Amino acid sequence: MTADPSALADQLLHIAVAAARAAVVLIHDERPATFEVSAKSTATDHVTEMDRASEELIRSIISTARPDDEVVGEEGGGDPGRAEVTWWVDPIDGTTNYVYDHPGYAVSIAAAIDGITVAGVVADPTHGRTYTATRGGGAACDGRPLRLAAAPPLEQALVATGFGYDAARRAEQGAVVAGLLPRVRDIRRMGAAALDLCSVGAGRVDAYYEAGLSMWDLAAGALVADEAGARVGALDGGPVRPGSVLAAHPDLFGPLRDLLQDLGADRT
Ligand code: IPD
Repeated sequence: MTADPSALADQLLHIAVAAARAAVVLIHDERPATFEVSAKSTATDHVTEMDRASEELIRSIISTARPDDEVVGEEGGGDPGRAEVTWWVDPIDGTTNYVYDHPGYAVSIAAAIDGITVAGVVADPTHGRTYTATRGGGAACDGRPLRLAAAPPLEQALVATGFGYDAARRAEQGAVVAGLLPRVRDIRRMGAAALDLCSVGAGRVDAYYEAGLSMWDLAAGALVADEAGARVGALDGGPVRPGSVLAAHPDLFGPLRDLLQDLGADRT
């Protein structure tokens, strides 16, 4: 373990930002007119050749800078826990938006030391924003610090969520939304979990929840939300984990978690 964890976190963030910038040039600035799209877990869960190329590029930048670290990516896998530093890479979060050329996809890269996320970047090329955070060092959007304002009451909260790709799971998640909708201001489904989490930190939504995510979807965005002052946990009230995330202002977190639990969100 390094003598100065915050210096290491800054160094990891620097590498993450460089890798995310390079990936943004590849997938957004130089987006080809056509690219190969294929199905993954279901017919609507897509992977494109741009996801693969983006992950390859990010892996090569990280591995050149830090050859002993482990990189775990959505497309190429990896072995979390093999090394002291593990990188979580989603080369395009919001692939459906990307395929449709719909605004709101992201490159999400996080670095964890011994299982604790310490640095993260979420680059949002269609809105021209880059979110960054280090543990204990705060969160920022394009260098401007993010700090949550006061929470609205539950019935005035704007709540973002997302859905898995399996039809049966989507039916259950839709039933939760049907119960939630009359109890809050409104619902948003933007299509990229990493950006939803950053939107909590930036105050663009008041809360975000989803069941069924992977670490590469949530690690960087959860750190941004957390460092901006949100409470980030699991839908059952435990610590955030792959498969279960709720992020909201600390005053809103409890009432929303209780409502989501009543609606069975943690079982979807
Ligand atoms: C998906 C997006 C989406 C969320 C899904 C994720 P992908 O990630 O983050 O918003 O609802 O659960 O799988 O597949 O586009 O990387």
